[in-house]
Order: sequence, then structure tokens, then C-alpha cells
Amino acid sequence: MTQDNLFPADFLWGAATSAYQVEGAPLADGAGQSIWHRFSHTPGLVANNENGDVACDHYHRYEADVALMRELGLNAYRFSVSWSRIFPDGKGRVNEKGLDFYRRLVDALRAANIQPLITLFHWDLPAALDDRGGWLNHNISKWFADYATVMYRALDDRQPIWATLNEPWVVTDGGYLHGPLAPGHRNWFETPIAAHNLLRAHGAAVEAYRAIGKGNIGIVVNLEPKYAATESKEDRDAVVRADAYMNRQYLDPIFLGKYPPELAQLYGQAWPQFADADFSLIRQRIDYLGINYYTRGLTRHDDKQMIERAIRVRNPRATYTETGWEVFPQGLTDILVWVKEKYGNLPMYITENGAAFYDPPSSGEVVDDPLRVDYLRRHFNAAREAMRRGVDLRGYFVWSLLDNFEWALGYAKRFGIIHVDFETQKRTLKASAKFYKDVIRSKGGNLG
Ligand code: FCB
Repeated sequence: MTQDNLFPADFLWGAATSAYQVEGAPLADGAGQSIWHRFSHTPGLVANNENGDVACDHYHRYEADVALMRELGLNAYRFSVSWSRIFPDGKGRVNEKGLDFYRRLVDALRAANIQPLITLFHWDLPAALDDRGGWLNHNISKWFADYATVMYRALDDRQPIWATLNEPWVVTDGGYLHGPLAPGHRNWFETPIAAHNLLRAHGAAVEAYRAIGKGNIGIVVNLEPKYAATESKEDRDAVVRADAYMNRQYLDPIFLGKYPPELAQLYGQAWPQFADADFSLIRQRIDYLGINYYTRGLTRHDDKQMIERAIRVRNPRATYTETGWEVFPQGLTDILVWVKEKYGNLPMYITENGAAFYDPPSSGEVVDDPLRVDYLRRHFNAAREAMRRGVDLRGYFVWSLLDNFEWALGYAKRFGIIHVDFETQKRTLKASAKFYKDVIRSKGGNLG
């Protein structure tokens, strides 16, 4: 590989986690309950009735975890803040002890020369706000901006990169339409309203940041490029619908100030009139776009599917991960180039990419995960290819630093590059972590 093919010297090489998935101690130091605490403590909603009470115990072990990041040579770390640690009642009173945890974490990262990327909302809404309607309540944009402002005041001087929301599409599709994720609703009519309020909250938090913040703020979306399963007109139309619903529903309002034209028809009677003023709030300038990429959607027309009337079908020749996602690195190149061409050449980060595979029992010292190594190698190359095509990609965060609580799937699906023994909390570097360390050290020189 020639020098030109190396990743830039200031490229951010990171790993990502989220509060409820790794922290544990969800009620410590005066924190309030989140909807994920409530959901996972409701029997039958999470595999094996597991919950985040202990998770990776990162709340107590963050210093050792930062030392592991350092050992890998990471120069960035993406984590999220638990809103209900800061506002136990959802709004009003601020819990300083909750803030202190994130102050300590950011200071530890800074001391290790690791750039923090802080997500303000990664799904764990304060239960007290859900009691007031959660994402269906119009006032949530203000509650979110107030919370965001407290975080900016506490941490902006440490120069983190900020992200408002993580994957608003998953929040609405999983939390309000199909129900496997908290708060577990199944309601077609609620879905566009929750989506709109997420976007308004994002806009309000960006607006608040412009008033007092000095650094960079963006949003994290999950994107899944859609490809037709056959050349039929039906399947090609299904691709347009699936793309409007999953990818453009959030990006069009943010970058173009309006919803994709297909959505009104797809939602039908459930589609309300939205105030014009909302779109200027939503269409705030952002400094970067964060993209979570895991797989593509090989798409077929299917009238039985709600809203998009499209379904993801299996590619018989492909490798699949343990969560049933096709390994398709080219989709990462395609989606990055698509964003650049459709919405403009703004800085981008891959804020999540990774895979759950079965990990063989650990001998205590090594965990061999060749499928994950192969997955990462191919996706790093796909990202590098997008950069060759002019995408302004600034960094890459592997999901995840640690095996953790994978929402409704519990602890069985392991995404970490570091193995966690949940009995003892022992961390063991997987082969993928060692591979990543070499990628970082050589700036991608070992990928070729
Ligand atoms: C994403 C989530 C993240 C994790 C990965 C596997 O949708 O943002 O928390 O669950 O999927």
C-alpha cells in the first residue's frame, strides 16, 4: 500500500458504547429511572429477562476501561449520557452527582488524549418524561434543549464533539411502531408524531448549542442503503418507499427542510399537518453527520409490511451476523457517497459499525473472532474507498468497545472487540481488538 492510501494523521479512531448498555448502576447517586430500566424490569420484554442493572459495570470501572482504550491506541471514544442521571424527574432539578460521573469520565479521556464524542440521547428517556407522553409530547423539544444546555455548560469547555440523538428512526420504528424496544408501543398513528418531535428536539438542542457552545454538534442516524431484490418494477418501487421511510425521513428535514414527498402517502391517515415553523427549527446547520452502518436492505415488495410495504430478503450467498444482518461492506461506500451527493459534502463520522458473531469460549488470554476481524477489515476498506471518492470522512467508531446489553436481545449478542465475562467483569482483548490496534498504529497500512 502506498502512502496515499493511508488514513489521514488526524483521523479519529474510536469505539462506541451507550449509557444503558454498559454503565450499570442505573439508579446510583440519585439517578431517576429511565424507560429502559422500566422496560427491562417488565417480565417478558427482554431475552432471558436480562437488564442493565450491572451491564459492564462501567460506571465503576470507567478508569480501567479508559486504560484499555489507551492500550488499543484509540484517539476517540463515543459514549452517551443518561438523561435520567442528570434530571431524575425528567426536568426541573439537576442532579450534580450524575453530572460528576460524566465530568470524571471526560477528564479521564482527556488525560489519555482521547477525544470524547458525547451523544445526548441514546434511547434511555427518563421514565418521568415518558409518564408525560415521552416523544409524543410537543414540549419534549424544550425538555431536551434544557437538558442539553446543562450538559453544554458542564462539559463544553472540555471540547467534546456533541451528538444530539442516536438513531431516531430506530426509536420510532422499534419504540412506537413495532414495539420490541422501549417504550414498546405498537401504534401507527403515534409513529410520525414521535419522529417529528425527535427532529424538533434535535433542532432545539442545536439552536441552544449555537447560543453557548464553541465546538461541533451533529446527529447520528442509522442508514441502510436499499437495493431491489429483483429488477421488477414492484421491487424497484419498494426500494423507493423503504428508502424514504428509513433513510430520508430524517435526513430530508434536517438538510432540505421538508419531509420526503412519499411519506404522507405511506403514513396515510396517520400523517398530520406539521407547522411550517418546525422546519426552520429542524433545519439548523449541523457541523457533521454521524452515520451508523451495519447492513444493507435487499428489498422486495410486500403489502403486509406496515408503512413501507417492503421487506428485507436474504441473500443466499452472503455471510450473516448473529443478529441476522447481511455482511455487505460495499453498502458503506455507497451510502457515504450517496449522502455526499444528495445532501452535500459535510464532514462525516462513522459513529457505529461492527458485528455480533459467536465468540468461542475464552482461554482467559485470547478470544479468537476471525469473522469480526474480517468484517472490520472489509468495512475499513469500504470507508477508505468512499474517501477516495471525495467523502469528507473524519473518523470511525467501532461498535462496540465492550460486549454489552444489546437491548431486547440481552447479553447473548456480543458486539465487543473486548470480551466481557459478565460473571467476573473480566475484560479480554479479542483478536479484533488487536487487529484494530494495528490498523490504528499503521493508519490503515495493514489493510491492503
Ligand atoms: C444500533 C444501536 C446500538 C447497538 C447497535 C448494535 O442500532 O445504536 O446501541 O445496539 O445497533
